Amino acid sequence: MSDRQAGLHDLLATTPVVPVLAIDAVGTALPLARALVAGGLPVLEITLRTPAALEIIRAIGGEVGAVVGAGTVLTPEQYRDAVRAGARFVVSPGATPALLDVAGASSVPFLPGAGTSSEVMRLLERGYGCLKFFPAEPSGGVAYLQALAAPLPGARFCPTGGIDAARAPAYLALPNVVCIGGSWVAPRDLVAAGDWPAITRLARAAAALRPAPETRP
Ligand code: 3PG
Repeated sequence: MSDRQAGLHDLLATTPVVPVLAIDAVGTALPLARALVAGGLPVLEITLRTPAALEIIRAIGGEVGAVVGAGTVLTPEQYRDAVRAGARFVVSPGATPALLDVAGASSVPFLPGAGTSSEVMRLLERGYGCLKFFPAEPSGGVAYLQALAAPLPGARFCPTGGIDAARAPAYLALPNVVCIGGSWVAPRDLVAAGDWPAITRLARAAAALRPAPETRP
């Protein structure tokens, strides 16, 4: 693992859960980020699924004491935009040669997505030992990740996609899982209602989850 990727691993290892957020407005993003940080989840992924995402990354990065990454980054241009907006890490549901080229030349670390053993192997070959396992539940969930541990001992995962509070502990118990990602800590109805105390309670419960001991390969 390169120093840059080891740094990403160590950042992700500071938190059991990374909230994956698709937010429409900066006015919502700031209190939401504050609620999550107050609950003990300081590492946030802002997905580029809304027109306001880059502005939100800029705003949260400067304000609330969170470490903000950009998610759903699909193109080299989006990678560069995310870096310019101040993203501290970049996440994609997959990986393409073009994205890997940009990531390789960037000082901002990349968490590429993989869903099969061949995808994991190709990313290991390129020096990526810390990967997003996506979409976790439809791809086989805990049993699948567990089955990858013995043949692919160099890979560590942040699984996301379909994980909720009930499923989270089984993922975190796996030795090849660094942390998990998900949107369940910021449900749309609570965000729409501006119920920040309820989101802080969800974050607090997620922050209390404990991953398996030291996972860096
Ligand atoms: C992602 O982008 O990582 C996922 O969409 C998050 O998945 P979830 O909404 O099922 O938690």
